[in-house]
Amino acid sequence: MSDGDAGRAATAFEERFGGGPEGVWAAPGRVNVIGEHTDYNGGFVLPIALAHTTRAAVARRDDGRLVVRSLQHPDEDADLALADLAPGTPSGWAGYVAGVVAELAGSVPGGLSVLVDGDVPAGAGLSSSAALECAVALALRDLLDLDLSRDDLVDVARRAENDFVGAPTGILDQSASLLCEVGAALFLDTRDRSTEQVPFDLAAAGLALLVIDTGTTHDHAEGGYRDRRRECEAAASRLGVELLRDVPDVAALEPLADGTAEGEVLHRRARHVVSEDARVRRVVDVLRAGQDPRTIGALLTEGHASLRDDFEVSVPLIDVCVTAALEAGAHGARMVGGGFGGSVIALVDADAVDPVTAAVSGRTERAGSSAPRTFVTVPSAGARRLV
Ligand code: GLA
Repeated sequence: MSDGDAGRAATAFEERFGGGPEGVWAAPGRVNVIGEHTDYNGGFVLPIALAHTTRAAVARRDDGRLVVRSLQHPDEDADLALADLAPGTPSGWAGYVAGVVAELAGSVPGGLSVLVDGDVPAGAGLSSSAALECAVALALRDLLDLDLSRDDLVDVARRAENDFVGAPTGILDQSASLLCEVGAALFLDTRDRSTEQVPFDLAAAGLALLVIDTGTTHDHAEGGYRDRRRECEAAASRLGVELLRDVPDVAALEPLADGTAEGEVLHRRARHVVSEDARVRRVVDVLRAGQDPRTIGALLTEGHASLRDDFEVSVPLIDVCVTAALEAGAHGARMVGGGFGGSVIALVDADAVDPVTAAVSGRTERAGSSAPRTFVTVPSAGARRLV
């Protein structure tokens, strides 16, 4: 992210709309260090913001229309009356913009022009959709002088995704994009929304966080994500709690294992969630105490096994990457995001980035897939106005 990014979005806006934008806003994608599929169960998450962002150059207009252009989707322009915005209309990437605008429609009487540019890999489990929502939400808050906190914007962006686009996500991605800070992981209690910025300086410990984007796509709206949510709700209901967060430990899940196949599945799903919440707290304890971050590696790998075996949201190519990274010396590795494809993170010694990358690429190619796209990331800034 650089000033050049703001300039590029502003120039592209001017070329397409014939005048300059009123401002340019940026919001990052994320990786979650640990705490997967806990957010809709009222549990804990620990994301960091990526340096990769989505930029929105925005100006108000007076013809009652929403006009959206994207440098990444040049053939999918959206141009429609604000009054015609409705869940599913427009579809595709512009739906994320429209969903936010629809949420705030009462405050946007005149219309909007939006030019989107960005480098958050799409469909990689790195929250490109949340980055887009959050850039637009922050832009509207600032431009229209709306009395909304960043927590409010998290809700606006999440409702856009849930109600307008129709993806039943929790608040992990939007919280990460809006609330993360440079140099820290965001410890978020998704039930009471309390947050703590936990220092996460891997470079100082001679470590790096390697992101491995397998290039396999996921689809939350259609995929198993919805099923997992339903299973978690069913498990909570059988246990007589509102949310799985309320279960004190895995021993308290025993009643689920009632000898039926369904009970066995619900038991495993809930065991992932309850054990994952415990892992988040243990990782936070290590980081808060300033202990060697290498020690969180085992917890990351444990989290992956739980997602793979109990929650069943991993896929073979992701498992291949995790195994290859570990065998090449990573201290820990796991899938990130909703699953069914997407990306892996690996905690590696800084001087092991190249050999681990080579090992993972070699292994995926032998498994018949193209080499993944990889990059090292550091905890970066949350959503902000660029100009
Ligand atoms: C997706 C969703 C999030 C969260 C993760 C899994 O990224 O958007 O709300 O549920 O999956 O942790």
